Amino acid sequence: MESVPDRPLTEQEPEENKSDLHSEAQGDRPPVVQVWELGKTYRTGFWFDRVIESLKSITLTVYEGETFGLLGLNGAGKTTFLKILLGLVRRTSGRATLLGKPIGDRATRARIGYLPENPYFYDYLTAWEFLQHAADLFGIAKNVQKKRIPELLDWVELDSYAAKKKPMRQYSKGMLQRTGMAQALINNPDILFLDEPMSGLDPIGRYRVREIILSLKNHGKTIFFNSHILADVEQICDRIAILDRGELRCTGTLDELLGTGDRYRIEGKGGSTQDLDQYLKNLEFGQSGWCGELEGDPREFLGRLKAIDASITRMDLTRPSLEEFFLQTLKKPSPVTRHPSSRDSE
Ligand SMILES: Nc1ncnc2c1ncn2[C@@H]1O[C@H](COP(=O)(O)OP(=O)(O)OP(=O)(O)O)[C@@H](O)[C@H]1O
Ligand SMILES: [Mg+2]
Repeated sequence: MESVPDRPLTEQEPEENKSDLHSEAQGDRPPVVQVWELGKTYRTGFWFDRVIESLKSITLTVYEGETFGLLGLNGAGKTTFLKILLGLVRRTSGRATLLGKPIGDRATRARIGYLPENPYFYDYLTAWEFLQHAADLFGIAKNVQKKRIPELLDWVELDSYAAKKKPMRQYSKGMLQRTGMAQALINNPDILFLDEPMSGLDPIGRYRVREIILSLKNHGKTIFFNSHILADVEQICDRIAILDRGELRCTGTLDELLGTGDRYRIEGKGGSTQDLDQYLKNLEFGQSGWCGELEGDPREFLGRLKAIDASITRMDLTRPSLEEFFLQTLKKPSPVTRHPSSRDSE
């Protein structure tokens, strides 16, 4: 249920705020999504007396051409955030712009593609008819549709013949999801918002959607997506943010968040525990030798090997996986006071 009071869906951005959009550009990439202290409170219950703080003062920027992943557990606020940007849910506080314009701006909407979390497909329509319908909504001319629809079907690897003949109720989940991707691309958007694009798909389906996202990225599209499938996020995102019960816990590139890998896992033989202990952490001994972790520059340890009568058999650069990082981040206490009611509400 929607909350009151709220901000209007479309409003004019104050003049003094417009100038700072490009001053915050990353290199020559202008920001395409900018959000300042965005908050959303839902009021539910018979007397609207139950308050759910879904988003708490979120500030973030997504730059042109980036693939940005918003991660969080169920109920973290990912869909709410996305729907506010799309003008489908009203924010309670804060400001947001898309392509430098206030959210809800008509001309900007035409440059946006959206794949909802649970898209609704008309069972009795074929994918072709569904895409025609989506194209009509954007006012795309029939002669343009004739060319664009088969191109899109090709892009998302759906057979054009089947797309014309088969009603969508006969489609697999993977085919439906790819039809949804084609629909999100029908207006050749500059920014794509994808809400859990890989969820519920088998490994091949996930792989295909991942490949589609990567090819869109190579075509310069800005892609913002929500996910909790961390392996996919790790492979395709330039930057991520972690949302935890409505709070933004961190934002950055994977290198910034996980480290650039000055940690090594080393396996070897020989040497005394005392000598090895000076350099290696989490030292373990097995039948074929020892293994341990070394942080920082490995040159000193490698130079000492002969003196301590040890040799190495394997050395790998390591860093925590996104999954490890994600779980560690969520375990840490939040810097902001928690409202236990937000998770109780799920
Ligand atoms: N229309 C609504 N009315 C009341 N509460 C809502 C509404 N929509 C979302 N919420 C609440 O807001 C919080 C955030 O929900 P949201 O759907 O944005 O999370 P999410 O991160 O997308 O979760 P999921 O991973 O399950 O899709 C949840 O506690 C949810 O119950
Ligand atoms: Mg969601």
